[in-house]
Amino acid sequence: MKINQEKVKSIFDIEGKIALVTGSTGGLGSTFARGLAEHGATVILNGRDKEKLARKVAELESDALKVHGYPFDITDSKIVEQAVAKIENEIGPIDILVNNAGITLRAPLEEFSDADWNKVIGINLTGAFIVARAVVKSMIKRKSGKIINIGSVQNELGRPTIAAYTASKGGLKMLTKGMAIDWAKYNIQVNGIGPGYFKTEMTRPLYENPEFDAWLCQRTPVNRWGDPEELVGALLFLSSGASSYVNGHTIYVDGGLLSSV
Ligand SMILES: NC(=O)c1ccc[n+]([C@@H]2O[C@H](COP(=O)([O-])OP(=O)(O)OC[C@H]3O[C@@H](n4cnc5c(N)ncnc54)[C@H](OP(=O)(O)O)[C@@H]3O)[C@@H](O)[C@H]2O)c1
Repeated sequence: MKINQEKVKSIFDIEGKIALVTGSTGGLGSTFARGLAEHGATVILNGRDKEKLARKVAELESDALKVHGYPFDITDSKIVEQAVAKIENEIGPIDILVNNAGITLRAPLEEFSDADWNKVIGINLTGAFIVARAVVKSMIKRKSGKIINIGSVQNELGRPTIAAYTASKGGLKMLTKGMAIDWAKYNIQVNGIGPGYFKTEMTRPLYENPEFDAWLCQRTPVNRWGDPEELVGALLFLSSGASSYVNGHTIYVDGGLLSSV
């Protein structure tokens, strides 16, 4: 039997879709944005720092990619509602939302302040809810949409000094299931990606520490850090028609870390 290459390609096709990637001035978010744009989507980049955002938009535009920058803080529901309305008015309805913005703060849990706890949970967990709630309204009307929540291997595993982060990502894993259940009937698929360890601003204190670096490489079955581009395949799968019957799952892209003790 002759394989129909066009049909094979079309199940992963995202040409002409509009995607919003929160926190896309950072290490993983900018790779997600580039990956979607290189596959034909128009991508809305986001972050709080306007100058960083303008630089990232210019960088991707110089590669002839279709991108726009919308700075806003994902923790403020009013601002998020206004920003999403503006994007949908100026660019068009959002087909793909990647809830990627996230932070970590490290301290022994007994010393963790209320402010730091609320900051981590507010951005990583509540922020994803706030943006999804704003974006899903038009997805529900159009009976079509893809939401991808960026979790972590810390959805499943703890480590010293990051209990707030682990709590936020464990919560995000279950929020992904909750969103998937409530919105499946509108033909909206909500899933997650759980990255292992990748070198970005967030993990700088880890990869600059030779002891951690050595520990991580022996702890991870593939014996190395991930390359952010290795996340793009899972993102394309979850952003396209290829995942039309996949609801509420998290794909771990972790070099086997979660499969091994
Ligand atoms: N790096 C890893 O190894 C790894 C592993 C597992 C999971 N992850 C997850 O992947 C995601 C991206 O991480 P990363 O490593 O790429 O981090 P990063 O380089 O530090 O980037 C974080 C991004 O989030 C934005 N951001 C933070 N707070 C925000 C807010 N309130 N509103 C809007 N944007 C906000 C930042 O921009 P502004 O500061 O300008 O707002 C930046 O663009 C996070 O959810 C993280 O938990 C990362």
